[in-house]
This record gives sequence, C-alpha cells and structure tokens, in this order.
Amino acid sequence: MSKNPFIDEIRTKAKSKNALVAFPDAEDIRSIKSSRFLANEKIARPVLVGNPDNIRKVASEQGVNIDDILIYDSMKGEHRNDFATLLYEKRKHKGMTQEQAYETVGNPLYYAGFLLETGVVNVVVGGNVSSTGDVMRASIFTVGVAEGISIVSSFFIMTFPDKMYCFADCAVNPDPTAPQLCDIAISSATNFQKITGIEPKIAMLSFSTNGSAEHDLVSKVQSATAMLKEKAPHLQSDGEMQLDAAIIPSIGERKFPGSTVAGKANVLVFPDLNSGNIGYKLTERLAGAEAVGPIVQGLRKPYCDLSRGCSVDDMVNVAAICSLM
Ligand SMILES: CC(C)(COP(=O)(O)OP(=O)(O)OC[C@H]1O[C@@H](n2cnc3c(N)ncnc32)[C@H](O)[C@@H]1OP(=O)(O)O)[C@@H](O)C(=O)NCCC(=O)NCCS
Repeated sequence: MSKNPFIDEIRTKAKSKNALVAFPDAEDIRSIKSSRFLANEKIARPVLVGNPDNIRKVASEQGVNIDDILIYDSMKGEHRNDFATLLYEKRKHKGMTQEQAYETVGNPLYYAGFLLETGVVNVVVGGNVSSTGDVMRASIFTVGVAEGISIVSSFFIMTFPDKMYCFADCAVNPDPTAPQLCDIAISSATNFQKITGIEPKIAMLSFSTNGSAEHDLVSKVQSATAMLKEKAPHLQSDGEMQLDAAIIPSIGERKFPGSTVAGKANVLVFPDLNSGNIGYKLTERLAGAEAVGPIVQGLRKPYCDLSRGCSVDDMVNVAAICSLM
C-alpha cells in the first residue's frame, strides 16, 4: 500500500494488464528491487536486460532473490543479430553501418527498445542510471515517434490528497516550437485521461492571459493554442493564460471571461523547459505535491525515462503507469 490513493488505484489497474516490463539499467539495485516488488505484488511481469552475471552478483550481494525473473543478455542474446538488422534498416540513411548497428544493440537501452518494438515486452523503464539524452535517443531510434505526433515529450502527474494535475513538458524539450507545443498538449491530455479517467482541461500557460501582454514569447503560446483548437477540437483547451487564471476559478472568471477551461484546468502545458522544470519542482517542494514521472510520451510504445535520483517506489509507479498507456 502507498500513502497516496491515486497511486494505489494505478497499481491496482496495472495488475489487470499484467504487462511485461523490461529494465535496461538492470545492474542497479533499484531495478532489481523494483522487479522483485512488481513480481511479488503481481503488478507486472518484470524482465531484466544486461549482463546476467553482473545482475545476479548485485542481487545476491543485496540479498534479493531473482531466480524466477527472466534476464535477457544484451551481448549474447538470441535476438542480437535480428535487432542489429532492424537498427541498421532504421539508421542506414544517417550513415550507420551494420557493424555499428550490431555494436549498438549490445547496449541494454537499445536491446530493450527492440524487445519492445518487436512485441516481446510491453513497457521499458530505464534512466535510473543512464542519462535522459541516452534513453531518449535509444527510444526514438528503436520504437520511434507515434503517428501524427511530431515530438517526443514528457509529463508528470502531480498529486495532492484531493486533486491531481498533469504538467508538461518538464523534462525533455528545451524550447518547443508552437506546433510542437500543440502536440505536447494533445499527447498530455490523451494520456492524462487514459491514466486517471478524468476529463482533461488544457491550459496553455504564459505570463500573459488572453492578450494582456505582447511579446514573442506570448505569440508562441497563442499560435500553439490556435493550432491545438484546430487539430484537436474534441479536447477542451484555452490559452494563453497565467497559472492563477488557469487553476483559481475566481481569477479565471475575471481574467478570462467565457473560457470553459480558465479556473478549472488540470492539464498545464508550460511554454518551455525552464518554466516546466522549475514549475514542477516548486509544486513538489513548496506545495507538497507528490510528483509521479517524468513519463515519456509521443513514442509508438511506452519507453520511459526515469530521473537518476528516483526511488524504488518511483520505478514501480512509473512501470504501473506505463502499463496503462
Ligand atoms: C532528446 C535529446 C536527447 C535530443 O538531443 P540530440 O541527440 O542532441 O538531438 P538531435 O537534434 O541530434 O537529434 C537526434 C535525433 O533524435 C530526434 N529527436 C530529438 N529530439 C526529439 C524529440 N523530442 N522528439 C522526436 N525526435 C527527436 C531528431 O529528429 C534526430 O533524429 P534523426 O537523427 O533521425 O534526424 C535532447 O533534447 C535532450 O537531451 N533532452 C533532455 C533534456 C534534459 O536534459 N532533461 C533533463 C531534465 S529532467
């Protein structure tokens, strides 16, 4: 049991999916402990990817039994040749040779990506050791970007005892363009609804509300909002608006009269990575929200990048959330 009812609900929902979840940063004890927990609680079926001898050594030193957990050897595994061919076909236009492809898929991040791409597993959860850049490149070059979406991005579910929000993009794209911001909003709203069952109301955030200020930074958010309304008319969205106008009903009514979203927003789309990353950390550290994520989105299949400071609990939660995506 977690302290947070939302987390309990996600873990329970994930049980019904019984997904196969691969951990490519598997020599890290947190991957091993997460796998043990997921298997014990029947939240998902974990598999570890990497060097089996090293993984078993870490597990045994830390007293964790992983005899029943499948390990894929990325260097000697039966799939390595096939995965190298797949990677070569995807990257040869960029000058990758067959030898480079074979070398690359020996890296567990790529091997796990192709286990996902070929349907052997349902989810990959990495990044507890590897950098965001390395995980992102492995996911983009193996499973690739989802159809109709121009950009891979990320979101956090920020939970309070009585409410929750989706914050995006707080981890991947430093300075998205207006069309990219529009796609980040669509992916975030879609996933928020899938995971929580709550109807999304998207606020495109800015330091200006409904034309109160003029600046290039504001124009970008205005353009993204216009594109969003055209590309996804089925989603409730509005912008540009300030954070207080987005979430405080009385301020939303005053600053943005007539908006169906202002004051009631639950999907908050930040204009760039500075504001997004600072915004989620402020909410976590000063307002006491529990931040679940980052969850990577916009890929054809769920390949998740954790923060390197993550706990075993975070890894279990992200694995459960990704099982639902
Ligand atoms: C995602 C990231 C790794 C890309 O960096 P990069 O490899 O230098 O980027 P490049 O422009 O060389 O792109 C490499 C390839 O990935 C693709 N790509 C990069 N970012 C992408 C994205 N967000 N969505 C889809 N494709 C993307 C590019 O189109 C390119 O593809 P190609 O080789 O087929 O042309 C980079 O933006 C990054 O590191 N972001 C994380 C920021 C961060 O540090 N966050 C931590 C805070 S929690």
